[in-house]
Amino acid sequence: MMTERESLLKEQAYTEVKKYEKRVQQDPYRLSYHLMPPVGLLNDPNGLIQFNGVYHVFYQWNPFATTHGAKFWGHYSSVDMVRWKEEPIALAPSEWYEKNGCYSGSAVESDGKLYLFYTGNVKLDDSTRETYQCLAVSTDGASFEKKGPVLKLPAGYTAHFRDPKIWNKNDRWYMIIGAQTLEGKGAAVLFVSNDLYHWEELGPIAGSGMNGLGDFGYMWECPDLIQLQGKEVLLVSPQGLEPKGHLYNNLFQSGYFVGDLDYKTAQFQHGDFVELDRGFDFYAPQTFTDESGRVILYAWMGITDESEPYQPTVANNWVHALTIPRELELRDGQIFQNPAEELKKLRQDEVRFDYGEHESLDEVCSAEVELDFAEAVAGSFEMNFRGECVLSYDSSKQEMSLQRRNIITGLCEKRVCRLNKLSKLQIFIDHSSLEIFVNGGQEVFTARYFPQSENHTITFNGTTSFRLKKWNLGGVI
Ligand code: FRU
Repeated sequence: MMTERESLLKEQAYTEVKKYEKRVQQDPYRLSYHLMPPVGLLNDPNGLIQFNGVYHVFYQWNPFATTHGAKFWGHYSSVDMVRWKEEPIALAPSEWYEKNGCYSGSAVESDGKLYLFYTGNVKLDDSTRETYQCLAVSTDGASFEKKGPVLKLPAGYTAHFRDPKIWNKNDRWYMIIGAQTLEGKGAAVLFVSNDLYHWEELGPIAGSGMNGLGDFGYMWECPDLIQLQGKEVLLVSPQGLEPKGHLYNNLFQSGYFVGDLDYKTAQFQHGDFVELDRGFDFYAPQTFTDESGRVILYAWMGITDESEPYQPTVANNWVHALTIPRELELRDGQIFQNPAEELKKLRQDEVRFDYGEHESLDEVCSAEVELDFAEAVAGSFEMNFRGECVLSYDSSKQEMSLQRRNIITGLCEKRVCRLNKLSKLQIFIDHSSLEIFVNGGQEVFTARYFPQSENHTITFNGTTSFRLKKWNLGGVI
């Protein structure tokens, strides 16, 4: 049963959606094939699952402002990961244990029911906080019955303890939580359960200062543990890493450790941390395994910025979006990310040419562009996106970079990664976003950008040869 407070909050959120609907839809920077909030602010993807054949994507949502606040769980569903349906609000922060936000979490299916796990965030008057790991259950995948907290804060951690990710292994349930130790170090903590309601702590499996890692951040958010090629891969978003050359240049990072986890002793022998994305706007990634066994990732195509709100869409009462779905594979210990196959369904109006026949592409707003280099690029190559973003490769330095104009300072900013060769690019362009897949998913650059409305041209520059394919991508939301 929905409490009075819960229905009131949901009503207020729907009123907000109605109030700004037109304004939001008319925004020239509104994306055409990415999931966005109907109004307000979206951040992390939550509760990703394929349940009874239907894909569900929930997301952190503040319907009342384009800043962070007491989060709801918004909800989209789809039968093909291409066409999405807006579902009723899944969770509203109505109860005492979540009054300042139904924070991030995940979903699992058991006995034909959908279980959502999330963090109940409570801020107290003395500016301290409390955290509760909570459960809500659904039989139809649309309405959720709250069961309240199933796990309280264990000893040894501050109240920055959140974002439960649950999975099943050998008929037992496991939960990994993002944490901060009392010494102020980020960690990922493992729990086990037989029934999804009672949880026992197994201990931290990784963290700042653990497993030979050295100083590695003051808080780890949104952990995820996946199995790829017989290895365990811990995805995590650490806060507090210092920039190190080309690494860790965004405010917060998202990346992974590959290793072997002993589920009994909670020992995780792992390698180095690797950033998942080389661009500007990528945070809090989460994955799910679909019914065909693919591991699919979504991330927030944005990042918390101290100076928020700053993006131009704020003037039209919405901000941020999720990435496209990406399929993950582990090859020689490295994650490769590629756009989910299904996105090919969006392709329209194919154009093909060889570089030399044309040196630019016009009328590009919402498109996919593929460049196959006849031979790996020798020298330098550059692609300019609508005068706002430049992708460059330099084979002598073995570096790829993405530059854009910073929307607050107006100055040029740049992200760089090492790349030993450039042989292929697959680029997803939407009205205000770029997702650039390099060499079949070896590296990815994700960025929001806000081009002038009169410029719809991509130009190419370099002594190289490639075959280009371009498709306009149809709208789906
Ligand atoms: C990550 C995060 C999570 C938290 C949520 C709140 O972006 O800070 O740790 O659960 O966002 O919206």
